[in-house]
Amino acid sequence: MIEKRIITAAVVFVLALAGVIALTVKQLGIGLPTCLTDVRPFLEGKVIDQAPKRYEIHYVARMWRFEPAEISIRPGSTADIYLSTADVTHGMQIVGTNVNLMAVPGAVNYARVTFDKAGDYLVVCNEYCGIQHHNMAARIHVTDKVAAVAAPPPAVLAGGRKILEDQGCTACHSLDGGASIGGTFKGLYGRKRELANGTTVIADDAYIRESIEKPDAKIVKGVDPGMPPLPVPPADITAIIEYLKTLQ
Ligand code: CUA
Repeated sequence: MIEKRIITAAVVFVLALAGVIALTVKQLGIGLPTCLTDVRPFLEGKVIDQAPKRYEIHYVARMWRFEPAEISIRPGSTADIYLSTADVTHGMQIVGTNVNLMAVPGAVNYARVTFDKAGDYLVVCNEYCGIQHHNMAARIHVTDKVAAVAAPPPAVLAGGRKILEDQGCTACHSLDGGASIGGTFKGLYGRKRELANGTTVIADDAYIRESIEKPDAKIVKGVDPGMPPLPVPPADITAIIEYLKTLQ
């Protein structure tokens, strides 16, 4: 009987402890770095403007620099940071924030951070990676002076929509979030897509381009394959992508 009580007490204690830890993490806004084993490593650094004050930053660490080396974003912005390495293991710390990630070959690491205060944030490598390790750095300028993302001319956007309609895309893909055979285009751009093979991709320019040219290259989970490849000229694909960005 006494054993039973001891076991119960132990279980209650562990649950309480887990609860306190979860609460602390939430209260302090601790961003736990995550290793995303299901996102394929990438070799191109870039900033994706998802919405006002929402960015997705793809950092590539390589001996001995970070790409992109310099970016500018607005104060109050939240950034989803994805980190990949082109060669050896690196570290990535954004000084003045709680972001401290490892760039490990074959994996993508992730953290979310909000830049409340304007200023220049230094990004440094904190994992010894060779003779120039100490020079490996990048900068994030958090400033009001960021040029607003140049909106593509209305003609391009209207063109993008017209191409989707002319090519028959809208027969299977709704533009307003409504149910459709191929899934809606609303909110597609910049989202994570779960694929039938269990991996995940980000619906960025490259993904959309490939999906139009080689629809069966990446099949989204739960969607029937069978979309025909479309002979859309590259410039038209660019117009489509610009238009899709506006469907948030
Ligand atoms: Cu890269 Cu140290």
